[in-house]
Amino acid sequence: MRKIFMLIICVAFVNIFSACGAQNSAEEKITKEATQEMSTSFFSESVALNSGFNMPRLGLGTWTLDDDTAEDCVYYALKVGYRLIDTARYYGNEVGVGRGIRRAIDDGIASREEIFITSKIMPGDYNSPDTAIDNSLKSLNLDYIDLMLIHQPGYNDEEVYRALERGVKAGKIRSIGISNYYTPRDFDRIKNIATIVPAVIQNENHPYYQNEELQTYVKKFGTVIESWYPFGGRGNTQKIFNDATIQSLAKKYSKTPAQIILRWQFQAGYVVIPGSSNKNHIAENFNIFDFRLTPEDMELMRGLNKNRRFENW
Ligand SMILES: NC(=O)c1ccc[n+]([C@@H]2O[C@H](COP(=O)([O-])OP(=O)(O)OC[C@H]3O[C@@H](n4cnc5c(N)ncnc54)[C@H](OP(=O)(O)O)[C@@H]3O)[C@@H](O)[C@H]2O)c1
Repeated sequence: MRKIFMLIICVAFVNIFSACGAQNSAEEKITKEATQEMSTSFFSESVALNSGFNMPRLGLGTWTLDDDTAEDCVYYALKVGYRLIDTARYYGNEVGVGRGIRRAIDDGIASREEIFITSKIMPGDYNSPDTAIDNSLKSLNLDYIDLMLIHQPGYNDEEVYRALERGVKAGKIRSIGISNYYTPRDFDRIKNIATIVPAVIQNENHPYYQNEELQTYVKKFGTVIESWYPFGGRGNTQKIFNDATIQSLAKKYSKTPAQIILRWQFQAGYVVIPGSSNKNHIAENFNIFDFRLTPEDMELMRGLNKNRRFENW
């Protein structure tokens, strides 16, 4: 394992021009053998969903990445060991994400079964959700999607959920869930019309907004919370990275603020999907499995909650 993390660190330092599109020799130093070892050990870091499928607990978010960037970032992420990729119809990059996945499969980095892909039905599709599922499959160029979510509450969302259930029955989707449902009441509205209990709720969740009430409530149904904006989102990251508590923990563990936040998310029981278009960051964000926050430090992180969201949808 030590050798593997050294390889990642090596990539992180040598790779100065690190946008996902740029290839470089340091990247090539990650051998196929090392990649496979990482993926095996990481794959055990997954959560068993109430659908019966396993979901990796750290993934790559792709919001704001265009098709070409998404393709390269997804490919690179899979190469350094990620097995969870998050996209959405709204992001307009399902084609690029699908190309990155295909390239990784063709290069023997991971098999389709080892990769977990999430997409989401956007409000513009709520009147034709069955077609939206087919369109996602087509854009991603996949036979099935691991997890499909309702992107946000809205008119007709209960019918959209029923379409997701039909997608499961037809073998087009493995697990289903919801996104941006923040209260037990919001969750119950969907659960009460469902024949398949949501496996995942994907919500804004970071040190300044920790919705423990929802996490505790949905646990009873085996539903897992997946965190978007773990760093506060583009334009807000420095507000969280410069937090005095996070800075001091970063110093204590010789890790970056991003790694402290992701490790806290991981130990707090969340699935987390940091977004990045930068190879250094993608490798750095995956390097959180060689340390553990103490219970006291987990409490310090918990104490940062201000119930403050950065978005209002
Ligand atoms: N369901 C929803 O409604 C919803 C809403 C928002 C997001 N999401 C999903 O959640 C994912 C995560 O959210 P997000 O990407 O918007 O925000 P985020 O993960 O909180 O932050 C992304 C920002 O952090 C930077 N970053 C990433 N790793 C870093 C590191 N190690 N050091 C310093 N900066 C770093 C990125 O810049 P670089 O590109 O330079 O790395 C980018 O500016 C999205 O990509 C998307 O898949 C879902």
